[in-house]
Amino acid sequence: MKFKDLLKSGLPFFVIMVSLMLVSCAQNSQQSAQSEGGDQATASEQAATTQKASADTQETATAPGSSSYELYQGQPVSIKPVQCGSCHRDEYVKLQNSGSKHRFDCLKCHTKLHAYIPTKNNYKEIMPKCTRCHGLKHGDAFPNCLQCHTNPHDPLNIPFQGVLQKVRNAKGKKVVACEVCHWNPEGKEMADHPCKHNTEVGCVGCHVTGIDATKHGMKPTCFACHEPHVQGQTYQDCLVCHRPHSAKNILQYPEDTDNKICGSCHTGIYEQLQTNHTKHSDLYCADCHVRHGQIPKCQRCHGEPHGAEIHHQFPNCLKCHIDPHNLPVNP
Ligand code: HEC
Ligand code: HEC
Ligand code: HEC
Ligand code: HEC
Ligand code: HEC
Ligand code: HEC
Ligand code: HEC
Ligand code: HEC
Ligand code: HEC
Ligand code: HEC
Ligand code: HEC
Ligand code: HEC
Repeated sequence: MKFKDLLKSGLPFFVIMVSLMLVSCAQNSQQSAQSEGGDQATASEQAATTQKASADTQETATAPGSSSYELYQGQPVSIKPVQCGSCHRDEYVKLQNSGSKHRFDCLKCHTKLHAYIPTKNNYKEIMPKCTRCHGLKHGDAFPNCLQCHTNPHDPLNIPFQGVLQKVRNAKGKKVVACEVCHWNPEGKEMADHPCKHNTEVGCVGCHVTGIDATKHGMKPTCFACHEPHVQGQTYQDCLVCHRPHSAKNILQYPEDTDNKICGSCHTGIYEQLQTNHTKHSDLYCADCHVRHGQIPKCQRCHGEPHGAEIHHQFPNCLKCHIDPHNLPVNP
């Protein structure tokens, strides 16, 4: 139970009353122990003695030369976090262990403290406001900071539930919260490159599967859901051709990309080029097809080897050479 809930429930009042009673009981029993065998003091007399005794104690405490006199040397100074921690151990230890940048003076945030009055119902009012220092850090869609940053003394400990909520984006449409905070670049990139990841998976589908499904910021690998094209491909290899947020848009791959990868889909052509004995068999698919789907011109590498007249008459080299993947070596 949080402290404020305790306060709301009236429990501390009860606890304080009980402890006050215990303290006075202890004092009374001490008192009666002292007066044991002495006068048979009445209850009212005893109360008077108690008052006198405490007055005496005060006198001796402030008397110069007495051992506790030093307690009252000097001017009051504002106390340090560690001293607040002597009473507020939980808050202090949270800050101490969180590694948070909030490990500065408590009073920087708690400009008003020990000012809570249950009858005034002023708890919210006296508590520090995140926006005083951070403004609306993530924009208008996220005004309720404590919904995610549930503990100001450990603000980076964010339960995943808050992050999963739906909120309105700039256009007023309800979308998953990830997309609003990560619009640029991830959200936008996905919107600009629609594929089945948008419709069948979504931010949450990828970032909440896998090993650590409870924490914001988890990054999956493709292997959580897909097999590689060929054996031995690593996750880093996938990123050579695919960006996670625009996966269907094939990037430009290097010239020495292994033909086996292309061959995993284009089996027929791969087999053909493997088994015949033309000089094209020594080439990478990627030497000719520099981007996926692109068709090269023979002239790029060969120019026009047979003289202008022939090429004018037969503009298409494949009229005689038939198939680049299976050149008739003696056409
Ligand atoms: C970054 C600002 C910040 C700092 C620094 C900070 N606090 Fe707080 N603290 C808050 C906020 C905000 C709340 C209100 C939380 C809420 O409403 O749930 C709060 C609540 C509290 C409460 C009430 C807890 C409860 O359960 O109701 C105590 C006690 C407290 N802080 C003590 C401390 C102490 C002691 C320190 C220093 C060791 C400290 N705080 C440092 C922001 C801060
Ligand atoms: C001697 C013990 C003690 C020390 C030292 C102490 N507090 Fe408190 N604090 C309390 C008690 C008891 C309450 C609850 C009663 C109340 O609301 O006043 C409380 C309540 C609070 C609250 C929540 C309610 C409110 O009224 O603000 C905050 C925040 C707080 N303290 C912060 C601090 C900070 C910051 C320091 C150090 C600058 C500090 N306290 C030092 C005992 C202490
Ligand atoms: C008194 C000013 C102040 C208040 C109030 C305040 N913060 Fe901070 N906060 C800071 C400062 C200063 C930093 C460090 C900034 C930096 O180094 O970039 C910080 C850092 C953070 C961080 C970064 C991560 C980290 O290391 O802790 C988060 C998250 C954060 N604050 C959330 C909050 C939330 C949520 C609240 C309200 C409960 C809040 N802050 C209230 C001053 C404040
Ligand atoms: C929907 C959840 C959510 C809400 C609401 C929210 N935050 Fe955050 N905030 C996050 C997440 C998630 C992070 C990133 C934490 C990380 O780095 O892992 C973050 C990070 C931060 C940081 C650190 C930024 C940085 O670049 O390191 C600050 C400061 C911060 N939030 C302040 C606020 C304030 C102020 C509010 C309220 C106005 C707020 N947050 C509301 C989820 C939220
Ligand atoms: C309230 C804003 C906010 C929301 C909502 C939010 N994030 Fe974040 N997220 C941040 C901030 C701030 C960071 C840390 C700074 C950064 O790297 O951009 C971060 C970091 C990340 C990271 C990167 C971690 C790294 O290693 O670089 C991933 C992945 C991520 N978020 C995914 C998500 C997903 C998925 C969702 C929705 C389930 C989501 N975020 C919701 C603000 C948010
Ligand atoms: C198909 C799965 C998939 C989907 C869907 C997906 N992501 Fe990612 N996301 C990834 C992978 C994989 C990475 C890690 C990339 C890397 O290793 O560099 C990543 C990285 C990130 C990062 C961290 C970027 C960085 O700089 O490290 C953020 C933030 C992020 N995604 C947000 C989102 C958001 C927001 C959405 C929804 C709009 C989303 N992702 C949808 C797979 C996905
Ligand atoms: C959480 C599971 C998941 C993860 C992680 C994931 N995908 Fe997918 N992916 C799917 C699903 C589901 C589909 C649609 C069904 C299908 O085609 O298998 C899909 C489809 C695709 C498609 C075809 C898209 C289309 O519209 O035809 C490509 C390309 C793709 N994924 C690549 C990747 C790459 C690359 C990664 C790693 C960066 C990755 N995926 C990570 C689940 C995932
Ligand atoms: C050399 C480039 C290249 C590399 C490396 C690569 N891919 Fe692909 N991938 C493609 C091409 C090209 C397509 C077909 C795109 C189309 O349909 O237009 C594709 C399609 C896909 C598809 C969807 C369609 C299908 O039939 O499977 C998935 C899933 C996929 N790749 C996953 C991966 C994964 C996982 C890795 C890493 C192990 C990876 N890719 C590495 C080029 C590559
Ligand atoms: C995952 C399967 C897959 C992989 C891997 C793949 N492709 Fe494709 N490729 C396709 C599909 C499906 C099409 C037809 C749809 C399209 O145009 O995107 C295609 C189309 C092509 C075309 C154009 C066909 C036409 O009729 O215009 C060429 C050229 C091509 N691929 C070459 C390659 C090369 C070179 C590689 C290796 C770098 C490769 N492909 C890897 C699936 C794949
Ligand atoms: C010497 C250059 C060259 C090499 C090497 C090459 N191609 Fe091609 N490829 C072409 C040309 C030129 C065309 C267009 C043929 C046409 O117009 O009929 C073509 C067409 C294609 C097509 C689409 C037409 C069809 O026949 O389906 C695919 C798919 C393709 N190549 C895949 C591959 C793959 C996979 C490899 C590697 C195994 C490869 N190519 C190696 C030049 C090459
Ligand atoms: C990426 C460059 C490239 C492209 C595009 C290309 N070739 Fe070649 N081709 C070569 C290379 C390299 C050789 C081997 C040359 C050598 O060893 O002298 C070759 C050899 C040949 C040979 C001789 C084959 C043999 O085994 O003796 C023919 C015929 C040929 N190419 C025709 C074509 C035709 C037709 C096209 C268009 C469909 C084409 N090439 C496109 C690079 C290319
Ligand atoms: C009218 C038919 C015809 C046309 C059209 C044609 N070629 Fe040829 N090409 C041949 C013949 C025949 C050979 C000799 C074959 C041999 O000796 O093995 C040849 C040989 C070649 C060689 C191999 C030369 C060598 O020294 O080994 C290349 C490269 C070549 N052609 C490229 C082209 C290109 C590029 C085009 C289109 C711009 C083209 N050809 C158009 C018939 C043609």
